[in-house]
Amino acid sequence: MLSAPSRPVSHRNRAAIATGQPPRRSPLNLGLVSAPTENPTTTSEPAISESAVSAAVTAALTAISAAETSVALKAVRTEHAGESSPLAKLNALMRSVPNDQKAAAGKLVGQARGRVTQALTARESEIGAAEATAQLAAEAVDVTAAASTWTAGARHPISVLMERAADVFVAMGWEVAEGPELESEWFNFDGLNFDEDHPARAMQDTFFVEPTDAHLVLRTQTSPVQLRALLSRELPVYVVGPGRVYRTDELDATHTPVFHQIEGIAIDKGLTMAHLRGTLDHFVQALFGPEAKVRLRPNYFPFTEPSAELDVWHPTFKDGARWIEWGGCGMVHPNVLRSAGIDPEIYSGFAFGVGADRALMFRNDVKDMHDMVEGDVRFSQQFGMNV
Ligand code: FA5
Ligand code: MG
Repeated sequence: MLSAPSRPVSHRNRAAIATGQPPRRSPLNLGLVSAPTENPTTTSEPAISESAVSAAVTAALTAISAAETSVALKAVRTEHAGESSPLAKLNALMRSVPNDQKAAAGKLVGQARGRVTQALTARESEIGAAEATAQLAAEAVDVTAAASTWTAGARHPISVLMERAADVFVAMGWEVAEGPELESEWFNFDGLNFDEDHPARAMQDTFFVEPTDAHLVLRTQTSPVQLRALLSRELPVYVVGPGRVYRTDELDATHTPVFHQIEGIAIDKGLTMAHLRGTLDHFVQALFGPEAKVRLRPNYFPFTEPSAELDVWHPTFKDGARWIEWGGCGMVHPNVLRSAGIDPEIYSGFAFGVGADRALMFRNDVKDMHDMVEGDVRFSQQFGMNV
């Protein structure tokens, strides 16, 4: 008879398989006659016996039901139903079975293999279902749970740029001042020498705030900070005022209805256009680089006389070296000094106001102002903490 299912095939049997020749003595014992009594380990004659087949099946079924995972079951399949499994080896003995016993032997082994295959399939789907359930449980997401990670936000590059600009002035001994964004019409216009019916009042398209008799506006410029600085400080005054301003401009690539300006005002004895020019030269070189240049073109503002448009040039601006309008400036108008109770015969000074959003565009190569106002943190993150 064949040795126990898990034992290796005997040399003799291996030779029989390899040569295709039957072993010298007929090994067949289907159990139809009395079972052999020899000790299996000393038996050298393999045989397809009922007991060998049923031992192979029992071993296979035991291993199948003991397998807990699909990996373990795969190993069981190889061991008990694979090419070198005991049942496969028994099957290989078919060729040495005498013809008259082949049908019975074939049926015996075939049915045994069928049972094992069936058991494997059944266990496979049991394990598969259990593993799928366990995986779903392990990967379950509690959508109501509080977030356990916090992504860092970022400072808006305009805030950072305005601080950097203010720092340039702080380093020269200037003070930083802010004013309200909801501003009285007087500070935004009248005190800055805009006549009641002066077309200049419509020049900057204004958000007037209801009720109209409260005479409040969303400030259209940071220039009211000039007046507030003069009214709240002793002379001389050197103040820089970065802040948010509003106009009824449509949002497009180069305009936004909410934007930012950096205002400056200096009032002292004996200040001239030369001081304005020198201050602006230093400012643009500190902010844009040592090669930056300033150009002043005659212009009109009600609160400065003379007034100038302030252009900046730099060799590495986006679109190449060119002049870009950045803001306005001039010598503070005597009427503005009088609004603040200052004698224009004794004191004089200059003021300027530039666009922070525009600066970010041509300095940091931001192509479209939409990016600055849409609030996508990824826009801000690319600048880091330093612009
Ligand atoms: C003024 O607002 C004056 N208050 C500047 C001034 C201050 C002159 C002190 C004299 C003395 P203007 O309207 O040109 O000027 O605006 C200044 C700058 O703000 C513009 O050059 C531009 O850089 C920026 N700016 C104006 N409108 C917008 C807008 N809709 N979107 C983005 N930036 C703008
Ligand atoms: Mg302008």
